[in-house]
Amino acid sequence: MNIFHQLQTYKFMVKSLNTIKGPIEEELKEFDLRFRDAMKSKVPLLDKVTRYIVKRKGKQVRPMFVFLAAKLAGEVNESSYHAASLVEMLHTATLVHDDVVDDAIERRGFFSINALWKNKIAVLVGDYLLSRGLLLALDNNEYQLLQILSRAVKAMSEGELLQMEKARRLDIKEDLYYTIIEQKTASLIAAACSAGAASTTQDQELIEKMRLFGEKIGMAFQIRDDLFDFGTDDVGKPLGIDIKEKKMTLPLIYALENAPTSEKKKIMNIIKKHNNKPDRVAEVIQFVRNSGGLDYATTVMNQFKKEAFDILATTPDCPARDSLESLVIFVTERKK
Ligand code: IPE
Ligand code: IPE
Ligand code: MG
Ligand code: MG
Repeated sequence: MNIFHQLQTYKFMVKSLNTIKGPIEEELKEFDLRFRDAMKSKVPLLDKVTRYIVKRKGKQVRPMFVFLAAKLAGEVNESSYHAASLVEMLHTATLVHDDVVDDAIERRGFFSINALWKNKIAVLVGDYLLSRGLLLALDNNEYQLLQILSRAVKAMSEGELLQMEKARRLDIKEDLYYTIIEQKTASLIAAACSAGAASTTQDQELIEKMRLFGEKIGMAFQIRDDLFDFGTDDVGKPLGIDIKEKKMTLPLIYALENAPTSEKKKIMNIIKKHNNKPDRVAEVIQFVRNSGGLDYATTVMNQFKKEAFDILATTPDCPARDSLESLVIFVTERKK
């Protein structure tokens, strides 16, 4: 294939989010309205913060997974909307808390909640969103949805805590890394896909298929996110903070495993004791870049992407499936 041909193919593959949204445009519009309403509060401070959150919305890939999975399995209905709102609400709550935990001042290209209102308020706002989400399910008698999502949130907290526990001793191997990202990120995307399907079909096999698909793509999603940390692009959130937080991600794990003992010792020492010095952190980033860690992580990410595609190929051929395919490509090639 010549380079021109390759470029054309590339252009075709990396469809913009707006194109992918095609088959669910109306649903997403309606979702925006409902999502905003679902957060409202009579407490002025809370209302101010939630309005700030709604204005600076993210990519909304999780609601997209909900609606596309719902469409693939049947007709979008009230339950699909409940699922989409609940998923995005819980996601937002965990991000608000995550920025406190990671001491991050930027999110979605703007100041984080903790940067503007301090940690105390950010923690309480996160709790508020979490409880509003749970109530949204209960008020609508969505018990299956509540179960799917509560399990995901439990896994997310466990994944984050596992990561922190290991960060203290810096002893994360590749296997453990996969367990961590499966819990902290893939579980929610898997829940989004299975809840979407469960809102429109009783076919347990299809629901489970969509869950597994979400899990694969969730793994790829987090590996992509971890790659950002070693790059220089503006992704709307702080870069280089994983090492500062002693977070061992796949590119670094690979680089360390393949380095000579002396180099390994030197790098571990920086992460342990000099993680607050930008020039030393830059040294670690350079080390990872030079060691093929980024290429390795990209290969693994593409493997998960392939597994996701293989699962999709066994589901009914329809416009929603085409969009899911494009969304998978978007997730692995995205720039933020
Ligand atoms: C960020 O998720 C958190 C991770 C799981 C890495 P997104 O990248 O989907 O965040 P928004 O919602 O688009 O900001
Ligand atoms: C995001 O984790 C929060 C969850 C997945 C629960 P990270 O801390 O790795 O992600 P970003 O980079 O801040 O979005
Ligand atoms: Mg974090
Ligand atoms: Mg973070």
